[in-house]
Amino acid sequence: MSFQVALNFEDGITRFIECRPDETVAEASYKARINIPLDCRDGACGTCKSLCESGGYDGGDYIDEALTEDEAAAGHCLPCQMTPRSDLVLRIPATSAAAKTGPATHTATVAAVKQHSATTVEFALDVDDRDALDFLPGQYVNIAVPGTDQTRSYSFSSGPTQKQLSFLVRTVPGGAMSGYLAERVRAGDRVEFTGPMGSFYLRETVRPALLLAGGTGLAPLLSMLEQLARKPPAHPVHLLYGVTTDQDLVHLDTLEDYAEVIPGFTFDHCVADAASSARNKGFVTGLIDSSTLHDGDVDVYLCGPPAMVEAVRGHITALGVTPASFHYEKFTPATVRATAEAA
Ligand code: FES
Repeated sequence: MSFQVALNFEDGITRFIECRPDETVAEASYKARINIPLDCRDGACGTCKSLCESGGYDGGDYIDEALTEDEAAAGHCLPCQMTPRSDLVLRIPATSAAAKTGPATHTATVAAVKQHSATTVEFALDVDDRDALDFLPGQYVNIAVPGTDQTRSYSFSSGPTQKQLSFLVRTVPGGAMSGYLAERVRAGDRVEFTGPMGSFYLRETVRPALLLAGGTGLAPLLSMLEQLARKPPAHPVHLLYGVTTDQDLVHLDTLEDYAEVIPGFTFDHCVADAASSARNKGFVTGLIDSSTLHDGDVDVYLCGPPAMVEAVRGHITALGVTPASFHYEKFTPATVRATAEAA
C-alpha cells in the first residue's frame, strides 16, 4: 500500500510520487530521483521545511529549531521526517530544476472537437499512458499546437480520474490553437504536452468555497467540480460564472448536473451584454456580497482575464471582507494561464 504525494514546486511544476506509510516523503522522493531540498535528514536543520496543503501525516521526530509548534499548526512539515497517512499535496520551497526534475512530457491523440459557439471550442484527448499522468483539479498543461512551433497553456476541464482529457478554448482570430482547431484538426492527430503545472488547484474543503469563473476560466473549475462529485464537500460550494455575450455561455447543463449530485453545490451566471437574455446582466462582482463570502469564512478560487481578477479583488476589498484564502489565476486569450498565484 502506498499514498500519492504531489510535490508542487516554486515554478508551478508538479511531480507525483508514491510513498509508503513506513517511509518518509524525502525517501520516496529521492527514490523517484526528485531531489527535494535536504541537509541533515534528521529533523534538525529545517532545510526541507515545506507546506502541506492537503492530507494527513505523522510529522515524525524533530526539534523546535527545525519546525516550531506554530509552524506545525499552520501546516508546515519536514519531508525528511514525515510519513503519509493519506494522499498529500506539498508545496516544496525550491524550483523543479533545483530538485533536478522538470515537467513530464505526455503524448496523446485528438479524440473529439466540439464547437460550442463562435467563441468557444472544446477538444478532448486520449493520452497514450493515462496512468502516467496525474494532476490536481485546476492545474494546466502546455500543449504544442500541431503543425506549428507554438505552445499554448490550457487548464484541464476534465477531472483528475477521468480517462479522457478535455480543454476549453476561447476562439481568437489568428490564434495558433484557434486556427488549428478551426482549419486543420482531425481525429487521431498526434499531440504532445508537458505538465501538469500551476498552484491554482482545489485544496481540502474545510470551509465554504466560492468559485468564480470568467469565460473559459470555467475550465479549471469544472475539473474541481468533477473532483467534488467524487468526494462530496462537507461545506457549501457556490460558483459564479460571468461571460461577455450569450454565445460565450457553455456547460450550463453540466453545472446543473453537478448541482444535482454535489451536496451543497449551487451556481449562478451573468452576462455583461445588455442585450443578453440572461436573468443577471452585468459582471460577477454584482453577484458578490458579504453573505456570498460568508463574512470571510470562505476559500475563493477565481480564474478569468486579468481585468476580471483585479475587479473581483478590488470589490472584495471594498466590501471590507478578507477571505480565509484567495487563489486566483489570470489568463489572456493568446497565452492562457499566463500566471497562477495564490495570495
Ligand atoms: Fe534537516 Fe529535514 S533536512 S530538517
